[in-house]
Amino acid sequence: MSENFQDPAIRSLDIRTDLGEVANLIELCFSSQMDPDGWSYLTAIRRASRNRRYIRWIPGAGERVSYPLFGYVWEENSRVVGNLSLIPIFKNEEWRYLIANVAVHPDFRRKGIARKLTLAAIQHARSQGAAAAWLQVRSDNPSARELYRSLGFIERAQRTSWLRKKTQPPVAELNPEVKVAPREDAEWQFQSVWLERIYPIEVSWNLPIHYERYAPTLKNKLFRLVEGERIQHWTARLQDRPIGTATWEPTTLHADNLWVGTDPAAEMLTIRNLLPRIQQDLDTGRPLMVNYPSGCAETAFVKSGFFRLNTMVWMEKRLDNS
Ligand SMILES: CC(C)(COP(=O)(O)OP(=O)(O)OC[C@H]1O[C@@H](n2cnc3c(N)ncnc32)[C@H](O)[C@@H]1OP(=O)(O)O)[C@@H](O)C(=O)NCCC(=O)NCCS
Repeated sequence: MSENFQDPAIRSLDIRTDLGEVANLIELCFSSQMDPDGWSYLTAIRRASRNRRYIRWIPGAGERVSYPLFGYVWEENSRVVGNLSLIPIFKNEEWRYLIANVAVHPDFRRKGIARKLTLAAIQHARSQGAAAAWLQVRSDNPSARELYRSLGFIERAQRTSWLRKKTQPPVAELNPEVKVAPREDAEWQFQSVWLERIYPIEVSWNLPIHYERYAPTLKNKLFRLVEGERIQHWTARLQDRPIGTATWEPTTLHADNLWVGTDPAAEMLTIRNLLPRIQQDLDTGRPLMVNYPSGCAETAFVKSGFFRLNTMVWMEKRLDNS
């Protein structure tokens, strides 16, 4: 298809003047599906729109949210009615651009605005020598998925975020044969393999998972002592055989992360018994979030007191050969 996106209505985002209007547009287009981090993000953009000194304080940078320092807007009569953000990321030896916050005012939809904004973003990424453009779209948003598919994006992964609220009552009926205890150093050899199965390199590059911090090395142990790092690991064992692990990693967002790795043959058993016990062990009173391949172990998550926050489709458009 033709990539003629040049349109006088498109221009680069100007963070000195556009952030207030962009925040309004994001709220209008995403409020029905926004989680608490989304709302904090919006508050931060609004604060930054009033005082530029706050831009660098937008919370969560580098974790799950992306904030609009660069991107494109679509203007109609000097009013921003379309927007997207572009975030460059260097991972796995290549530059990629993440496209986020694609939003068009309801009164201006089906006129090709999102298509042209996305084409402008692709063109920008290509002009910067990026190897690929990526984006994440909710699985229950068929129109946006169709838009990206028509522009050459390919679905690479589907990931569900499972959330356990702090108010969730303890889960009963745990299997007494599954024993849960702090991870032993020697179990890292299993854990590292299991984690790479659940969080392979194709998705870990854009998740706040830090493999290098979880190995039981002297350096990591010293770092924990000196910096007071609070990461914790557990192992589930069946008849003394490790069947799964989980790592708790606190965040500054509304929920802490749990990174779950299991023996594929014991996935349901592990999740069903390990996760509730971790919740009992942790006395932080904070919600827990697990990012997991969608369609896997869903019953076990539900029985462990988690609910599906969302399922995101990760899409990629390679730029190197075109
Ligand atoms: C998704 C969204 C950005 C599309 O904006 P838009 O400017 O209306 O999209 P376009 O006019 O460029 O449409 C391009 C293609 O997307 C698909 N599409 C867009 N809206 C659609 C709809 N409501 N139903 C079916 N297909 C749709 C079509 O394939 C369309 O091509 P066509 O018009 O030639 O059939 C807009 O609906 C929106 O802001 N939604 C809320 C926020 C959101 O979900 N953003 C996406 C986050 S990843």
